Amino acid sequence: MNQNTWQDDRGNRDRSITNPAPQGDMKPGEYSGHAKPGAAGEPFLIGDAMTGGYGGGADILHDCTIAVDKGEIAVIVGPNGAGKSTAMKAVFGMLDLRGGDVRLDGESIATLTPQARVAKGMGFVPQTNNVFTSLSVEENLEMGAFLRRDDIRETMDQVYDLFPILKDKRRQNAGELSGGQRQQVAVGRALMTRPKVLMLDEPTAGVSPIVMDELFDRIIEVARTGISILMVEQNARQALEIADKGYVLVQGANRFTDTGEALLNDPEVRRSFLGG
Ligand SMILES: Nc1ncnc2c1ncn2[C@@H]1O[C@H](COP(=O)(O)OP(=O)(O)O)[C@@H](O)[C@H]1O
Ligand SMILES: [Mg+2]
Repeated sequence: MNQNTWQDDRGNRDRSITNPAPQGDMKPGEYSGHAKPGAAGEPFLIGDAMTGGYGGGADILHDCTIAVDKGEIAVIVGPNGAGKSTAMKAVFGMLDLRGGDVRLDGESIATLTPQARVAKGMGFVPQTNNVFTSLSVEENLEMGAFLRRDDIRETMDQVYDLFPILKDKRRQNAGELSGGQRQQVAVGRALMTRPKVLMLDEPTAGVSPIVMDELFDRIIEVARTGISILMVEQNARQALEIADKGYVLVQGANRFTDTGEALLNDPEVRRSFLGG
């Protein structure tokens, strides 16, 4: 792995990986952690009071609300089986809701297909099977851009700037890469549509602590370009450290919601969810 590039490439020189239209007056290096609300004075993306489950089965989500603002990092934590992935799928349109709504920039998108949500500016990296293992790294990125009809070269170069190792390995099959490199491919693939919101389900699953830190640094860098990050993480403590907002889900419902810092300092959250 090219450590020098990872470490030298701090800060954000280029916000054009987002949709070209300006999304606020944030400039490189000015990230304040205080995100701007979207239209209607509410968060840019919100899954609002979502209730629902799989097919005709019992409800998994109960009045569950998760949201993220522009350029903000929101992190969802909670025990295994709490419904974190289900909540992400609900926001992305992979689950029929029996109650609640999903709004993007003030507009209800609850009836849209996942593909239509991608066209609206959502990118989703699922928890599993998030790369095409028999395709090369570059082919994975091209697949990510399937909805685009314009020139994708510039965006691909931006992904390679963000993850230099992927450029070195661009002709290699994604299945031959390490876990951390595969996660970079998955994130890069989602960035190819130039999303406004990037949803990541356990992006650091199965990687070493060093690779986790590197991935978190890249995610912070993406957020600094104005892209909202909605992320599920099992490394709860480390994720809350970089979170503007955190959600603790238990049994499909919101248990705690606060800034990442406040959750890290909450004795009950620490005792019950962060190992003391
Ligand atoms: N495709 C599915 N069909 C039916 N039930 C599911 C499906 N995926 C997850 N579940 C159930 O939904 C609940 C929440 O799972 P999940 O959202 O994956 O939790 P988490 O991501 O927090 O570990 C669990 O009880 C799980 O068994
Ligand atoms: Mg999950």
